[in-house]
Amino acid sequence: MVEAHIEVKGLRKEYGDLIAVDGIDFEVRKGQVFSLLGPNGAGKTTTVEILECLRTATAGDVKILGHDLSQSSKIKRRIGVLPQGFNAFDLLTVKENVEYFAGMFEDSVNTDELLSWVKLETRKKDLFKNLSGGMKQRVGIAMSLVNDPEIVFLDEPTTGLDPGARRDVWRMVRNLRERGKTIVLTTHYMEEAEALSDYVCIMNKGRIIVRGTPREIIRDHGGSPVAIVRGAGERGLQALSPNFPDCELTDADVKIPISNGRRVSEILNTLDNAEVHYDEIVIKKSTLEDVFLKLTGQEFKGGEEDEE
Ligand SMILES: Nc1ncnc2c1ncn2[C@@H]1O[C@H](COP(=O)(O)OP(=O)(O)OP(=O)(O)O)[C@@H](O)[C@H]1O
Ligand SMILES: [Mg+2]
Repeated sequence: MVEAHIEVKGLRKEYGDLIAVDGIDFEVRKGQVFSLLGPNGAGKTTTVEILECLRTATAGDVKILGHDLSQSSKIKRRIGVLPQGFNAFDLLTVKENVEYFAGMFEDSVNTDELLSWVKLETRKKDLFKNLSGGMKQRVGIAMSLVNDPEIVFLDEPTTGLDPGARRDVWRMVRNLRERGKTIVLTTHYMEEAEALSDYVCIMNKGRIIVRGTPREIIRDHGGSPVAIVRGAGERGLQALSPNFPDCELTDADVKIPISNGRRVSEILNTLDNAEVHYDEIVIKKSTLEDVFLKLTGQEFKGGEEDEE
């Protein structure tokens, strides 16, 4: 069994009357990408900031790399943090910002190598304030790595980034994982959690409502895949209804759940025989987003729209 880098038992955080984290348990194993996924206010940041020794818990037991949170100086040496809404010194250059952070640790990595790794080697002398959002976030990732940490906490590393910049962050997370780092990620984006994580806890209102690998969660809580016949309209519905009584028309698309051994070829044959015109057929598998909707009855209102 791979060793646990983080162990959380009965973690609770109250802000006055508000219960932000309501007794949660989880473990993160060495080398995993572990994601806390949930809508605004779910308690993700509160949870990770307790693990980062930035906030105190109301109750619960937490061990980071074998240490209690009371041993925060030992923990802080061995973790890296990219806080939500990261910002740095606007009037320092990229390199100065990273060096400033590196200077806080007895042992730090070579900052030039780090800046090359985050693809900022040509921007080292630029003022932080003049960088794009994606570059700023890469400075933040570089800063989180100055002490060559064993665990890296990334709190919403891609919120507000365009799709290209988001993919850059994904590549870095994957590369860190290949280097054996343990990564704790929080995100609003279901797609991101699905693409990057070894293990996901979906949080809502301070609780973990479902957990597992993305595949397990979708298998256990997702619905069956659906064939969507785009543009088939009313004619499509009439043609398909006798053989597929559970098909539905939404706008001009006919949707047919394809569980129970039903084959897509049967759908195609039915459409062909009835000479129904349609634009395309897509097979949509359940996503973590469908799971969230099913479990909570709530639309998943993450940050801004996903531009992809
Ligand atoms: N310092 C604080 N004082 C009082 N309430 C707080 C404080 N920090 C967070 N909260 C509240 O605790 C709840 C959980 O907040 P938290 O920031 O942990 O959620 P989150 O899942 O990170 O949300 P987001 O996706 O918006 O970042 C929210 O209702 C929030 O308003
Ligand atoms: Mg947050």
